[in-house]
Amino acid sequence: MSAAELGVVRAVEEVQEGLYNLELVTAPRVAQGSAPGRYAMVSIGEDTDPFLPRPLWVRRTGDSLVGLLVQVAGRGTEWLARRRPRDRVRFYGPLGKPLQLPPRTQRLLLAGDTCGLNCLLALADHALDGGAEVALVLPAQDTRLSTRLLPPDVEVLPGLDSDALQWADALYCVGSPGVVLGAMGTLRDSRSRIPAYGLPHAPIACGVGACYGCVVETRKGARLSCVDGPAFDLRELVWT
Ligand code: FES
Repeated sequence: MSAAELGVVRAVEEVQEGLYNLELVTAPRVAQGSAPGRYAMVSIGEDTDPFLPRPLWVRRTGDSLVGLLVQVAGRGTEWLARRRPRDRVRFYGPLGKPLQLPPRTQRLLLAGDTCGLNCLLALADHALDGGAEVALVLPAQDTRLSTRLLPPDVEVLPGLDSDALQWADALYCVGSPGVVLGAMGTLRDSRSRIPAYGLPHAPIACGVGACYGCVVETRKGARLSCVDGPAFDLRELVWT
């Protein structure tokens, strides 16, 4: 793994109960490398307790700025959520393969939940920069996030259905396995043939293919989210 990077907290905002948006000032190379689909392994605490870093999607928000979205779910994420401006945060990354939109994508459909939201936001930024239209499907309880975090040009849809798939020419679903599973079912039932990718949340621990903690089952066999993913053909995913 490469040397640790350092980010200085510029702002922290609680965007929904228990969900915090941290903006970090980083080296320009970190921000430039923070393409959609990449994540950082963020160290927790001042010493080695907790020991394992937490994987968080990164979103480039400026020439030397990245955003992390932290959902408080335990001691580590609580520590991160308590950071204040000028605090320092150590991390490794960005890691993982950057996502490439299919050629000639003009209408990008995004779906997922809060655990995939920062990746979805980065994808939305990227697609809008390229001139595409973007629509986003979130669970009802997460749609109020839209005014705080989403680029204004993104349309928020109430649900993933065949009409939304008919409008789109590519789909990415990022979130918990249940959400990705739901998208697989809708895609199958609609008989849509658009390129479709799933990024199911996997417990990434080492981030370098060493621990086999992030296995994702596909029709072609087991794959590792951290080095083979994070995106997999949505039609190829298998749930056992
Ligand atoms: S996180 Fe260790 S193999 Fe993927």
